[in-house]
Amino acid sequence: MQNNTFSGLFIGRNLITLKEVDSTNTFLKDALSKSTPLLDGTVIMADRQLAGRGQSGNSWISEAGKNLTFSVLLNPVFLAIERQFDLNMAVSLALNDFFNKCKLQAATIKWPNDSYFNNKKLAGILIENILQGNKIKHAIIGIGLNVNQENFPANLKNVTSLKQALHQDYNLMQILGEICAFIEARYLQLKAGNIVRIRDEYLAKLYLKDEIAVFRFNNEIQTAVIRDITASGQLVLETSSGLQYFNNKEIEFIN
Ligand code: BTN
Repeated sequence: MQNNTFSGLFIGRNLITLKEVDSTNTFLKDALSKSTPLLDGTVIMADRQLAGRGQSGNSWISEAGKNLTFSVLLNPVFLAIERQFDLNMAVSLALNDFFNKCKLQAATIKWPNDSYFNNKKLAGILIENILQGNKIKHAIIGIGLNVNQENFPANLKNVTSLKQALHQDYNLMQILGEICAFIEARYLQLKAGNIVRIRDEYLAKLYLKDEIAVFRFNNEIQTAVIRDITASGQLVLETSSGLQYFNNKEIEFIN
């Protein structure tokens, strides 16, 4: 479908909007597994996901028609597998660029790639890579952004939306176009090899960096300070026993 909401060169030029789907990420994955030809930059957006997926096998719950749930297909064949976290950083920053445009400069990135505002989650990213040799053939970038939702189920703790933060309603299609333009700009920056800048900006926006905070790791609740991220995306914490390195499932932030 040709459309005018998307100003970028390729992301969103092919836009598929669905009333209902299990998960926009699964939709793209299934299409690719059947060798359906899909343009680089294809965007799938759904009003309602019946089985939205989050990180670590969690589900993604979102009120139908009020929020953005979409996936972007990219073919970052220039990116080696061991550099896949670079794409996470670029996409996290793209969302942050969008929040800056909304005058939400206080939004931060909670490692590895949640968007946070006021100690609450505003958006989540689930990137699923399809590999070929030691390269990334396809990356499915799934984004859930809470936009106009005002009430959240009691079991969803520490969650917020643009509307709660900024007290206004947003046109979902319009902001989808804006976010895709930011993703494209960051993706092209990554492709051009500008990783130092991406990394520096990511670290500058990192939630709780250089602050004493409480985490659960090694089966204990402990205070520690986030100091860095490794090239492979591990969180580097300064703990009472020195620097320690963590993968996503090995540590929990205690708010
Ligand atoms: C997380 O924070 O755990 C990641 C959430 C990612 C949710 C989005 S919604 C669109 C896309 N489709 C899915 O099933 N998940 C991602």
